[in-house]
Amino acid sequence: MALTNLSRSIKGCVAFITGAASGMGAATAKLFASEGAKVAAIDINAEGLQQVVAEIEAAGCEAKAWTLDLSDAQGIKQTIDAVAAHFGGIDLLINNAGISIPSPIDADGFEEAWAKTFDILITAHTRTIRATLPYLRKSNNPRIVNIASTEALGATKYGSPYTAAKTGVIGLTRSIAVELGSEGITVNCICPGPIRTGMTDAIPEDQKQEFARRRVALKRYAEAEEVAHGTLNFCLPSSSFITGTALPVDGGMTIKNA
Ligand code: NAI
Repeated sequence: MALTNLSRSIKGCVAFITGAASGMGAATAKLFASEGAKVAAIDINAEGLQQVVAEIEAAGCEAKAWTLDLSDAQGIKQTIDAVAAHFGGIDLLINNAGISIPSPIDADGFEEAWAKTFDILITAHTRTIRATLPYLRKSNNPRIVNIASTEALGATKYGSPYTAAKTGVIGLTRSIAVELGSEGITVNCICPGPIRTGMTDAIPEDQKQEFARRRVALKRYAEAEEVAHGTLNFCLPSSSFITGTALPVDGGMTIKNA
């Protein structure tokens, strides 16, 4: 006789993961594939995607790449329909792809930075959610996870487009969680802190260590895989009553005062 009723396996689920060519998206694609999911790896970077998919296949797991620019509304819909046709549905939507364009509020290029940031960091999420919904509605384990940021819980100078968009991701998550709750579709977001990925590559190692020493309870940057495990937890069938949350995965950065 089983001692518990709920499964901690995503085996057989189809996962649509954006930004899968690098950083947290690549780590999530590898983790989900190793857990037995069928991974649709989505990114604008075709070369990076091929590498990630080749690694997954070499490990005997299942993934396929779709090259997509998430600023292309029509492309999003077409890609989602193609993924569903290929794998026979979609169960897990991971809105992870992102960009960071620091811009002072009075800079000449501010409006452009603002528009581009909102396009990729939040408008694309609404489009992927709208286009996957018919498939999520047919799933036995429908889950949406949006990747926000600790920049949605605090702020950094010159980051107003990023912080405003990421704060919006938390609002979007809560609102859609309420809207889709009666259908059993859960919607959560993760707020990563300082993580070693393509986005933070250019920050010199000594600056990383100094930042972590001052600001992070665990005194270090995280590896991308440590965030991927948080995302996996939201996607488990056993996480069926967790919705509308914003989980910091930040080594204790947001709770550390001194
Ligand atoms: P990354 O730069 O390693 O990966 C981002 C991926 O998104 C890249 O593969 C890139 O090609 C893809 N992408 C960018 N624009 C795209 C577009 N128009 N269409 C399709 N794909 C596109 O960065 P990282 O850190 O793995 O970023 C993942 C998410 O985590 C992002 O939403 C980012 O804002 C967020 N984040 C990152 C933190 C960090 O410390 N690295 C901290 C908090 C949040």
